[in-house]
Amino acid sequence: MSSILITGGAGFIGSHTCLQLLEEGHYLYIIDSFVNSSPQIVERIERLFSKGHEKFEEQFNLIGGDIRDKILIENIFKSSIENKHAIEAVIHFAGLKSVEESTLNPSLYWDVNVGGSINLVKIMEKYNCRTIVFSSSATVYSTDNKCPLSEDSQIKPSNTYGQTKVTVENLLMSLYNIKGEDWKIINLRYFNPIGAHPSGLIGENPRGKINNLFPYLNQVASGQKKELRIFGNDWPTKDGTCIRDYVHIMDLAEAHCLALKYLLQKGKSDFLSLNICTGKGTSILELMRHFESVNSCKIPYVFVDRRPGDIAISFASNDLTSSTLKWSPKRNISDMCIDGWRWQQLNPNGFEK
Ligand code: NAD
Ligand code: WQD
Repeated sequence: MSSILITGGAGFIGSHTCLQLLEEGHYLYIIDSFVNSSPQIVERIERLFSKGHEKFEEQFNLIGGDIRDKILIENIFKSSIENKHAIEAVIHFAGLKSVEESTLNPSLYWDVNVGGSINLVKIMEKYNCRTIVFSSSATVYSTDNKCPLSEDSQIKPSNTYGQTKVTVENLLMSLYNIKGEDWKIINLRYFNPIGAHPSGLIGENPRGKINNLFPYLNQVASGQKKELRIFGNDWPTKDGTCIRDYVHIMDLAEAHCLALKYLLQKGKSDFLSLNICTGKGTSILELMRHFESVNSCKIPYVFVDRRPGDIAISFASNDLTSSTLKWSPKRNISDMCIDGWRWQQLNPNGFEK
């Protein structure tokens, strides 16, 4: 059992990962500002946690606050030492993730994603905690690369959000390069995480405008949105719609547990970037047809103009991740559609009543 600080642990990927870490017996400090999540996640995770209320109270400590708040982060480290559960590692999810918003409000994205990360690692250094798993993204890769992408494909993000992710990867690389400090670092580059916990109790809870395909698709299926607007049917793909590498959120959460275990067991410093993907590309029409077939529903859709900044095809190899972490995705597109739709049906307004 280890003590772990999880930033952004109330969010989509963070909440699923927290549950798996709790089940593995870890002691969690979670910091989240709830800008894109809800404190109601606590009650949901507690309901799913198999070891009961007392263990949950002991293992799960959620602190509301901002990763840019130096005093707060420092107090979390201090109290973890006082409680004899000194933080040994950090999983750093907290951040803003809308590509569109990052182009409209770049200073906010640099401040939260980069400023917040700098704040965090400075305090980690001060408290001799030098193990971190960072949430990076497929957006770090150049759009000129050929698919499947691999970790050594060219890095050249085409938007501010992606640039903030590369900057944090570079920041972590420069820490790793400090002689004698022994930083242990994994950047996980996620492709398109979708789906939900099979219970339907936790899932993706986007606030405000929905930009990503899967939550939008769910809202069309539930009748909350009239139709799916598919951005372009003239892409150079087999059916003219864009191809992406969708990965089940439960597989993603398992990858975090394995990345953490890998680093905690590692006797010396390390720096790795790993793709979290399935290696398989699925077009929008294929995803939609799968969704309709496994969930026995109809998705009204229209084709509209291409979305600026999109690329035709994005999928990647997970060979390095599989060999390093002994991870491979266990769930397929049907599982993603079934589990995502269950979450949507049980929680049409997310965590709001
Ligand atoms: P999410 O928005 O559901 O989770 C992020 C969490 O961070 C939220 O709970 C939010 O309230 C919190 N947060 C934001 N700013 C904060 C701040 N300043 N201080 C404290 N907490 C703050 O998003 P997610 O999908 O779970 O993504 C988690 C991480 O993974 C993000 O860093 C994101 O950029 C990255 N990522 C996500 C995807 C994806 O498609 N979901 C893909 C690649 C990378
Ligand atoms: C998928 C496909 C759209 C909405 C983004 C970020 C990436 C990562 C995941 C964080 C595209 C099309 C979408 C809609 C549509 N996030 N689409 N109608 O663009 O692959 O990746 O989210 O790191 O960094 O860039 O995902 O879900 O937005 O889009 O036709 O209403 O669906 O054009 O082809 P994307 P997405």
